[in-house]
Amino acid sequence: MDASDIDKDLTEILVTEEQILTRLREMAEEIERDYEGKDLLVVGVLKGAVMVMADLARSFSRHVEMDWMAVSSYGSGTKSSGVVRILKDLDTDISNRHVLIVEDIIDTGLTLTWLVSNLQSRKPASVEICTAFRKPDAAKMAVPVKYIGFDIPDEFVVGYGLDFAEKYRNLRCVATLAPHVYS
Ligand code: XMP
Ligand code: MG
Repeated sequence: MDASDIDKDLTEILVTEEQILTRLREMAEEIERDYEGKDLLVVGVLKGAVMVMADLARSFSRHVEMDWMAVSSYGSGTKSSGVVRILKDLDTDISNRHVLIVEDIIDTGLTLTWLVSNLQSRKPASVEICTAFRKPDAAKMAVPVKYIGFDIPDEFVVGYGLDFAEKYRNLRCVATLAPHVYS
């Protein structure tokens, strides 16, 4: 998609495509080092983490298994409700597996706090978190994140998997959404 088509809906590009891909390659190397000699199941959180998962997974020079979960905590608005529902569960039995959750963004931390404890109850060998973006100023729950792409300001952002009402996910960069779009 040509960014000029949606320029009017965006106020600022916070992270460029090149910055994202460079950072994900660094994170993939770090993850490979940390999981050397261990099998690894990466769990992407639908739908936002699709782009992160695709680029991260293809940066690995090792085998990984991939699975997906879909959870809902937002409805169609821009505020986390804290009430998480499983829309699609894992296909994989994760007991005794090393699980790495791949997320698009951590905002309040409510979704991941819930997800980590849900997965922990299934007795995996380990559970860690990898997120492309985090908003430190929005945190309501401290989430122990092992791999963080970028800390960004507490503003609603779209692109690279992140949506507003299902739009803008296919944008290659991450940008702030103009208030006129959602107000
Ligand atoms: P919490 O607040 O539970 O939120 O950490 C995590 C989930 O909320 C979505 N989210 C966003 N989606 N732009 C988006 O398009 C944003 O700025 C944003 N902040 C949070 C996202 O789905 C994430 O998994
Ligand atoms: Mg979302």
